Amino acid sequence: TTSKLTEENKKIAELSPNKEDSNGEYINTNTGVRINDDHNSLKAGDRGPTLMEDFIFREKMTHFDHERIPERVVHARGSGAHGVFKVYESMEKYTKAGFLTDTTRETPVFVRFSTVAGSRGSTDLARDVRGFAVKFYTEEGIFDLVGNNMPVFFIQDAVKFPDLVHAVKPEPHNEIPQAASAHDTFWDFISLMPESTHMIMWLMSDRAIPRSYRMMEGFGVHTFRFVNASNESFFVKFHWKPLLGVHAVAWDEAQKISGKDPDFHRRDLWEAIESGNFPEWELGVQIVPEADEFKFDFDLLDSTKIIPEELVPVQRIGKLTLNRNPDNFFAETEQVAFHIGHVVPGIDFTNDPLLQGRLFSYTDTQLIRLGGPNFQEIPINRPIIPVHNNQRDGYMRQTINRGRTSYSPNSLGGGYPIQSKAAEGGFTSYTEKIDAKKVRERSRSFFDHYTQAKLFFNSQSTPEKQHMIDAFRFELGKVETVAIRERMLGILTQVDRDLTAQVAYGLGLEAPAGPEQPVNHGVPADADQAHYEPFPP
Ligand code: HEM
Repeated sequence: TTSKLTEENKKIAELSPNKEDSNGEYINTNTGVRINDDHNSLKAGDRGPTLMEDFIFREKMTHFDHERIPERVVHARGSGAHGVFKVYESMEKYTKAGFLTDTTRETPVFVRFSTVAGSRGSTDLARDVRGFAVKFYTEEGIFDLVGNNMPVFFIQDAVKFPDLVHAVKPEPHNEIPQAASAHDTFWDFISLMPESTHMIMWLMSDRAIPRSYRMMEGFGVHTFRFVNASNESFFVKFHWKPLLGVHAVAWDEAQKISGKDPDFHRRDLWEAIESGNFPEWELGVQIVPEADEFKFDFDLLDSTKIIPEELVPVQRIGKLTLNRNPDNFFAETEQVAFHIGHVVPGIDFTNDPLLQGRLFSYTDTQLIRLGGPNFQEIPINRPIIPVHNNQRDGYMRQTINRGRTSYSPNSLGGGYPIQSKAAEGGFTSYTEKIDAKKVRERSRSFFDHYTQAKLFFNSQSTPEKQHMIDAFRFELGKVETVAIRERMLGILTQVDRDLTAQVAYGLGLEAPAGPEQPVNHGVPADADQAHYEPFPP
């Protein structure tokens, strides 16, 4: 099935005109002039100075000098692979998205797995969240599912993302430490942000040190929207379930592997695919009808909450197979640009304030990372269907658009594109009713920060709980400021007394009776700071 899958992948076919094999060809310059000597620069005499005239030297060195682009501001370290996705049964009851309704379609995908905090050359085995980003090259355009291997996030509002990342990255004065979370600034921030408690439980669990990218779950995190052909909408959470199961390494193994093979996950993924041992995941969905929006004791728009699978089961609706390694790491894995805002008809957004902020951030960062407004023309980022619109010009424009006009409305003709009608399958934003006051404050429905943190801790087996205790001891043990350790212990009292006592013992501290001082950022002025009201209020 290897070659069959590979041959049928339209994206691989679409990439082929951009590929070039140089084996055995004459070396030449970028202007196509053959080079007879690539070993010596042009000099004035045997032992004389190099001449400015040497265009061959200048071109080679200039290109080399410009080889680096900025690494991603987060998720810099990653590995990618090509594959295909196929839906099992039509999901037309919920969505009109073609790749989820047409069971005969094999949709090409490109997937990039990553760590979040480390730089591009950092170790794969860091205790960290893993990115799980999937680009679907569908017949109706690109859909990106830009997820993580944990189902919740640290913060509820995107405006806190720069703070979170500044806290977790190496400290600004000395760029220490490379280890993601084991330092004062990270735990300072976390201990002041109770909304991060649920995510911190996941981060201190075995989920943060996967055995392999092939053995991780993936989650869209936010609640998204499905929209069907009758314009009915459903809330949806996306999941990836690895067919190899979920596996982790132990922390002491992770530390040894980091020393011996920092490419452990990258190598594992590469070798598995190279040997025909194709990793597979099933796409899962949890679907909530619009009418049930307020049925839960948490808010569907709050990215620090899961929908427990006991309440809404995960339906497995299709399969992702990774069956081909990239030909060129930089051209494909490094230049790929995922964006939560890349949606197709049948999929839409919700008002999750984390999701809404992400919609701005990705294009904005890619404009600088990939050097201007034409990065969607880079081969790995192009859709498999041709692009027709009135955009033009900008650095590095590749497409040679023909005709005289690039605006609309237009009476001169000359090959200008026309807009579609809803009936012709174009994207129409879901007509959600919004009638509200403009406010800058956190919804009360987001206040319960501890119930699901407890739920997660209690879901762990005894050895898994011990791993979490050990992780907290190790991480907080690296924190020099005692007040931060104590504040963090105060937060842990809201999760589990025994966990708090065990961590406190490991740190040589007294277990506190409760949180030092309840903090809840961005609450309405009249809210009771000490009490996080359950939802609905
Ligand atoms: C990458 C911003 C939350 C998953 C990135 C990048 C930025 C960013 C700027 C670099 C993109 C690039 O250079 O191409 C944000 C902001 C967030 C946020 C502002 C919250 C407000 C999340 C969440 C998830 C996530 C909740 C998971 C559900 C990812 C992944 C990547 C990424 C997987 C790497 C994509 C790749 O492999 O190229 N994010 N992010 N992010 N983000 Fe987020």
